[in-house]
Amino acid sequence: MSSLAAADEHVAATPAKVIQPGWVRVMHWVNAVAMIVMIMSGWQIYNASPLFDFTFSRSITLGGWLAGALLWHFAAMWLLIVNGLAYLLVGLASGRFRKKLLPIKPVGVISDVKAALTFKLAHDDLSVYNQVQKLLYAGIIVVGILIVLSGLSIWKPVQLQWLTALFGGYDFARYVHFFCMAAIVAFLIVHVVLAILVPKSLRAMIIGR
Ligand code: HEM
Repeated sequence: MSSLAAADEHVAATPAKVIQPGWVRVMHWVNAVAMIVMIMSGWQIYNASPLFDFTFSRSITLGGWLAGALLWHFAAMWLLIVNGLAYLLVGLASGRFRKKLLPIKPVGVISDVKAALTFKLAHDDLSVYNQVQKLLYAGIIVVGILIVLSGLSIWKPVQLQWLTALFGGYDFARYVHFFCMAAIVAFLIVHVVLAILVPKSLRAMIIGR
């Protein structure tokens, strides 16, 4: 057998590198489902007592009415909290967050944003996040923690008064909760568009390789 044919056979026999380990994939998709249910039911809850001069169309809300939406919101809340805590603990303990999301350097973010806008950002090695991905993923994890804490503070403002006070009171915590939702929706739009533009990243988040 020629050395070229042997090399070809070797490449075919070598399993592709795991880019997203199983625990990341499972927790990512559980989180995505929980987040989407929380956002859509949250819009229905918001409609019952809007903070601003607009309401969300019923066609994009979940729950049908206030009580129904609250049931969906609290059910998905447990899924989000348990799954989110597990993701944080494993991410920290395994060193994944340190390895994949750090360091984030302003100069690197600026040059990667420029490269992305001129379609020059490389996606050859999916196992390494660029500076924009690092910033967005680390940022959305912080927003995820904030939305859960502000939510808990408006759910139990008497039992968790210290937490509500930390957010500057009940009314202010509601605004924090709303703007975290807006940040997650904005992230989600960009995130899904990018996943469609780079389909191999989506495949890796589904089958790992
Ligand atoms: C349903 C829509 C979603 C799709 C199609 C999607 C798709 C993806 C894909 C393809 C990746 C890997 C991207 C890469 O290699 O850069 C990824 C990673 C990630 N996504 Fe999503 N995602 C969705 C929802 C969400 C939501 C709702 C959140 C959080 C609010 C989220 C947070 C993240 C984070 C933090 C990572 C990095 C994970 C890690 O490396 O530990 N995603 N997503």
